[in-house]
Amino acid sequence: MHLLRDRGYTHPVPSEITPRSVYLSRRRWMAAGAAALGTAGAALLSAPAGAQGTPRPGRLAPLPATRSSVAGAVVMDRPTPYADITSYNNFYEFGTDKADPARHAGSLKTRPWTVQVEGEVARPGTFDIEALLRLAPMEERIYRLRCVEGWSMVVPWVGYSLSELIRRVEPTGNAKFVQFVTLADRKQMPGLSSSVLDWPYVEALRLDEAMHPLAMLAFGLYGEVLPNQNGAPLRLVVPWKYGFKSGKSIVRIRFVDKQPKTSWELAAPHEYGFYSNVNPNVDHPRWGQSTERRIGEDGLFARKRPTLMFNGYEPQVGPLYAGMDLRKFF
Ligand code: MTE
Repeated sequence: MHLLRDRGYTHPVPSEITPRSVYLSRRRWMAAGAAALGTAGAALLSAPAGAQGTPRPGRLAPLPATRSSVAGAVVMDRPTPYADITSYNNFYEFGTDKADPARHAGSLKTRPWTVQVEGEVARPGTFDIEALLRLAPMEERIYRLRCVEGWSMVVPWVGYSLSELIRRVEPTGNAKFVQFVTLADRKQMPGLSSSVLDWPYVEALRLDEAMHPLAMLAFGLYGEVLPNQNGAPLRLVVPWKYGFKSGKSIVRIRFVDKQPKTSWELAAPHEYGFYSNVNPNVDHPRWGQSTERRIGEDGLFARKRPTLMFNGYEPQVGPLYAGMDLRKFF
């Protein structure tokens, strides 16, 4: 394990911090950009923080937040640039190419928007997006996102723990799993004409995973509301699992007693398991999982980073899987 542990927080070892060459070239690029743009550019680069500490790009509506105090919620890694987070996406409802979501998700209508909460809960109901935005205080969390394809990003999300919503709907004793159903509307989503997946895109967690404070409902990033291509107006973020577990543009949350099937499991059961915890020791049949490429660091001197057990969140989430064979439950 390449971790230094300290009271539940995980620090990357120095070799995992952005290589000096990458950092220096980025600084040179920023200085050149500021010079080229003159005072306007300088103002942009020092824009006031939308969420404590993280400058907002100023493209979308602000979504103010305070830094989260949840253990492990703010990693030390440098956040991936906004331009990369919003232009290199997986959102198959808008096409399978990484550039497709940014190109096509403009057609997604994010208002009005409701989320239906149903199944094994004492207080089912329909939550309007405006009510969800007010449900709990907005927090900024800087999470690593590791995609099963071998790349990773560091994203300053804005939102709150999924448990805030779950507590309010009061799961019954029969609620063992939580299923997330995302929007599937042919009028807005050109990718639905493809049969790569069965639509709608569905994902699920065990109830105790969903209740973990690091499991997050995200409404924004970089101090602003989510761009459509990143799953507006709300999405799940489960930082210790491969990115596909984090469903975008959620419309329904269902509490059930049996383990539900998920879209990727249905599409290729030998490749994608229900758990899909980030695990450098268990390879995907087509992709090794021991290292990763950090998006935005593909310069000449960039090297692959070692992938961390549970994406570096082992001190916080390891106990959820105590005694489980993680090769079997992949
Ligand atoms: N959610 C929906 N509805 N549709 C998708 O295709 N792709 C998943 C996940 N959520 C996907 C989805 C995958 S594979 C990843 S890696 C992440 O979203 C990517 O999130 P990002 O584009 O914000 O980085």
